[in-house]
Order: sequence, then structure tokens, then C-alpha cells
Amino acid sequence: MAKEKKAKANTLANEHGASMDKIVSLCKRRGFVYPSSEIYGGLSATWDYGPLGVELKKNIQEAWWKEMVRRHDNIVGLDAAIMMHPRTWEASGHVDNFSDPLVDCKDCKTRFRADHLEEIWKDKGITDGSCPECGGTLTEPRQFNLMFTTHMGPVADSGSLIYLRPETAQGIFVNFKNVVDTSRVQIPFGIAQVGKAFRNEITTKNFIFRTCEFEQMEMQYFVKPGTEDESFDEWKAKRMAWYIDRLGIKSDRLRFAEHGPQELAHYAKVAFDIEYEYPFGWQELEGIHSRTDYDLGRHGEFCGKEITYLDPADNTRYVPFVIETSSGLTRSVLVTLMDAYHEETIGEDKNGNPDVRTVLHLHPDIAPVTVAVLPLVKKDGLAEIASDLEKELREDFATFYDQGGAIGRRYRRMDEIGTPFCVTVDYETKDENTVTLRFRDSMEQVRVPAAELSDRIRREMRDYRRS
Ligand code: GAP
Repeated sequence: MAKEKKAKANTLANEHGASMDKIVSLCKRRGFVYPSSEIYGGLSATWDYGPLGVELKKNIQEAWWKEMVRRHDNIVGLDAAIMMHPRTWEASGHVDNFSDPLVDCKDCKTRFRADHLEEIWKDKGITDGSCPECGGTLTEPRQFNLMFTTHMGPVADSGSLIYLRPETAQGIFVNFKNVVDTSRVQIPFGIAQVGKAFRNEITTKNFIFRTCEFEQMEMQYFVKPGTEDESFDEWKAKRMAWYIDRLGIKSDRLRFAEHGPQELAHYAKVAFDIEYEYPFGWQELEGIHSRTDYDLGRHGEFCGKEITYLDPADNTRYVPFVIETSSGLTRSVLVTLMDAYHEETIGEDKNGNPDVRTVLHLHPDIAPVTVAVLPLVKKDGLAEIASDLEKELREDFATFYDQGGAIGRRYRRMDEIGTPFCVTVDYETKDENTVTLRFRDSMEQVRVPAAELSDRIRREMRDYRRS
């Protein structure tokens, strides 16, 4: 029954036809995302990003970096190591608090999240509290820490134990003093970082939504105590606007959800999630947290030297408060794909059946390919002209050259991966040096002098950003 429910959830589509099954299939078919180590049967909850997926992920990351670091003169970047001194995680509270309650079956040894059991029992009609897999006896709940451990050096003993970071944020906190001492930042200021994080998630499902290895885009904004609420509201608004304006996500599929007292992380005073309406329901995309002086205070305590800031504005010394914006990069890949996916009926095929095109209406700034160059036919020198044009455009845009198959089918292949512009080289190109520029969303085609093509595409992209 649980399996049936899961299968049904995966086929639930939004109003544009995007279901989890369709997204997974498109990702595999077109080279966005593959199961990790697939030739060995895959490894649960880990995924590899293929040629198009890596471009989409990189473009989202660049859009975020541009927004957070380049557009703010008081935010700087950092790239801290994944492996950190183990005391970091004692100070941060992760060793003691970053855990889920788990129970084990004494007979079949299957593990369950204790807080998910009620739902599983309800689904399966189990009323005696037994193991949902074999009917055996379950243990009492035990806390299970989500951090992956490994050992550094040749001896695997407790002295060499280290953790894979479960969030990028701590790399920022432990470098607070380094950044203050070596750059000219003054409070309020932010430190931004993008990188891998690891969590030993027991319940992994929904494709790349929740995985054991994932990427985060985090920014810690350091403020004077007493000004944190104002700053929190400002960042809440800015982060929501980023998804809508820069990633092109539909605003009616985004909302804020405030954490209740039970959900608040051990470090947070107030927290809101930006949620997206996935086919399986509203779920988190980004967390915005008011972290008080918890982290800097704790690191000061654990390293034996207070971490404070001398404010040149009024000569006061204090432990700064922190507003954190924590976005999932890999989760943003899923959201941009789900949100952009559209099945559109655009007439009838030659047998009178509905002609449906699948199109990703991705924001042009994040599309894996910006411009595809297609010769109408390979012969009569058109392929050579098109190939030269593509090489020229490469300097300014992410391009793709495709000379195989009927032109209509080539357009559809580009629609399916979200390419906003297709350029067709035909016989008129030879005679008049003009090309056809085709727009993905409207499927409109216009004739453009080849010499003006780059400028025209740039202008179209600018207009898209403003629209
Ligand atoms: N530093 C705060 C922090 O890590 P979080 O709410 O646990 O907060 C922030 O995580 C974001 O990281 C989430 O909103 C989500 O986008 C992403 N994330 C967290 N766990 C994830 C997982 N197991 N798989 C994919 N993304 C995850």
C-alpha cells in the first residue's frame, strides 16, 4: 500500500504536466541527472549530474553568486574545506543535537524514522505497533546522528575521527575573524559560500530533493545585536525576489512557512522556510534563520578565545548576531526543472492526433544551452557556414551545434532541454547573410542579419530579465 501511494505521488502532475516520473525520465534521457554508480546498480540517494545538469547547476550557482556577492559591496565570498577540526561540530551543537529518532526491527533489522512510523502504520493498517516490514518487534527510539564520520590519517581510532560537514555555514563562522582582519568589511556585512554538504538521511526519496550528498548556497550576514529583526525581514524579501526574478520561478508556487517551536533548529531564534509547491506537496527550498550570537559565541567558548567585533561606528565591542540565508543548490535544480516543465498542445499531427511539445521554459540566464545553431541541410556549404557561426557565438553564449535530422525535430529537441534561441542557417544565409532566429517560448521566427545576431540575442535576454 505504501508502495502504491509512493507510485501515485510520483505520477501526480502540476497543471503543466510535470510529475516526478516525467522529470526523472527527462533528466535521464537528456543527460541532466543519472543515478550514481549506475553500472553497479546505483547507490541510494546519490545522483550524478550529466552534461546538461552540470551546466544548469553551475548557472544557478553563478546567478546566486552574482546576486549575493557581486551585487552587494558588503558581501564577500569564501571557500572553506569540507573537512574541519572535529571540535567545530561540538561547538556548533551538531554532535549533540543533529539527530533523528530511529527505531530498529529486532527481527529483520530494518530501520525507521520514529517520527514517520505513525504514518506508515496508518498506510498499512497496522494497529499493534509492529515492524511494517515483517511484523517483528521494534526497539525503543534512539537518537541517530546525521553526520557522516571518517578518519584522517593512517590509524582509524577516536583520535583521528572527523566529520563530513552537514552544512557549509560553520566554515564561515570559524573564518569570521580571518575575514574581518584581512578585508575591509564592516558590520553589517555578509560572507557567502557554495559547497557540498553531507547528511546520513534515512528517509531519502523524491529524486534529488533529499539526498545524502548535496550542495548548499549559504550566506551569513553579521549584524549589530538589536538590529537582527530588521535585517531578517530584509533578507526574507530579497531571497523570495531572487527565486522569482532571477530564476524565473512562478510566484504562486512559492510561499513562506514559519517554523513552530518544535521545528526550530537548536541555534535559531526565528526561522522561515521558502517553500515550493512540488508535485508531492509544499516543501522547503531555502531556510532563512535568525541565529543570534549562538555560533560565534560557542566557537569563542570552544576555542578558548572570545570572537568579538570592535565596531568603529561607536567604539563598542560585541559578538555579532547572524542572519543566515541557506538555499539548496541541488534542490534548486529540481525546482527550476519542475517549474519550467510544460506540455503544450500546439495543433495536430498528420494523423489528426494532438501534437504535444514538451518544453522547459527556463530563464535564459540559467538554460544549459543559450543558442543552438542548426543548418537547414548539411549540403551546399550550409553546414560549414553554420559551424563557423556557432564558433563565433561560443565566445559570448553557451552554444550547441546540431545538423542531424528534420529541422522541426531539432527544434523540439532544443525545446525539451530549454534552449531559448535557435538559429537556422539556410539558402538565404548564403545569398543575403541573414539567419532565422527562433524563440523557444513563442516559437516565433524572425529574420536577422548574421552580423547583428549576438547583439539581438543579448537584447532579447535583457528584455526577458526586465519582463
Ligand atoms: N545552515 C542551515 C541549514 O543547513 P537546513 O534547513 O538544514 O539549514 C538548508 O538546510 C537547505 O539545504 C534546505 O532548505 C535545502 O534546500 C537544502 N538541504 C538540506 N538537506 C538536504 C538534503 N538532504 N538534500 C538536499 N538538499 C538539502
